[in-house]
Amino acid sequence: LCLEEIVAPLLAWYRQSARVLPWRENTDPYRVWVSEIMLQQTRVDTVIPYYERFMARLPSVQALAEVREEELLKLWEGLGYYSRARNLQKAARCICKESGGAFPGSYEQLCSLPGVGPYTAGAIASIAFGLPVPAVDGNVLRVLSRLTENPRDIAEPAVKKQMTAALAQVYPAGHCGDFTQSLMELGAVVCVPNGLPKCGSCPLRQLCRAFRHGTQTEYPVQTKK
Ligand code: ADE
Ligand code: SF4
Repeated sequence: LCLEEIVAPLLAWYRQSARVLPWRENTDPYRVWVSEIMLQQTRVDTVIPYYERFMARLPSVQALAEVREEELLKLWEGLGYYSRARNLQKAARCICKESGGAFPGSYEQLCSLPGVGPYTAGAIASIAFGLPVPAVDGNVLRVLSRLTENPRDIAEPAVKKQMTAALAQVYPAGHCGDFTQSLMELGAVVCVPNGLPKCGSCPLRQLCRAFRHGTQTEYPVQTKK
């Protein structure tokens, strides 16, 4: 398997089969950012109504910077991990103060925002700014681990590092955001954890080593739990 081979089938599948989600309507950086923060610890189905309410009340980084904390926390009520909401506002205030409300557009600048780690920065950089920066979480590690029959434990930081570097090499110019979301989407709806992945409807099954050998359930390898 050469990783570059997954790009075209994955993009074609994503265009045809991706779930319609409110944060996929457009790639405004503010909208992408808020969605990625909400999705850090909360499931897609739960996030949707919160996201829609949040965007209706706070449609811009300026609005988020200015809203009273009490109202902000009310909008977040039920999502949990309230530090996420406080960090969002802190970051919004920084953005308004330091760049007049222009959203930071590089991976490094994104990483410096409170609440934004490497995964979230990669998601925003690729989806909102079209940059070839991977966003590798547990879902993406699982997909790649099965595709390549990777014998290493995905809990090892070196594995994530290696997979991130390998993916960065094949990011398709002009389609970086869709590529990021296609990997997330495959891990969420087809190459699912626990039990059997839905290989019968997987656009990558002809390329997948685990599928070829019937070893899907053996990956990702877990050496400790
Ligand atoms: N989980 C994290 N980011 C996501 C996105 N953009 N779409 C769906 N699920 C996600
Ligand atoms: Fe995952 Fe199966 Fe697709 Fe391989 S063929 S990537 S194991 S869903």
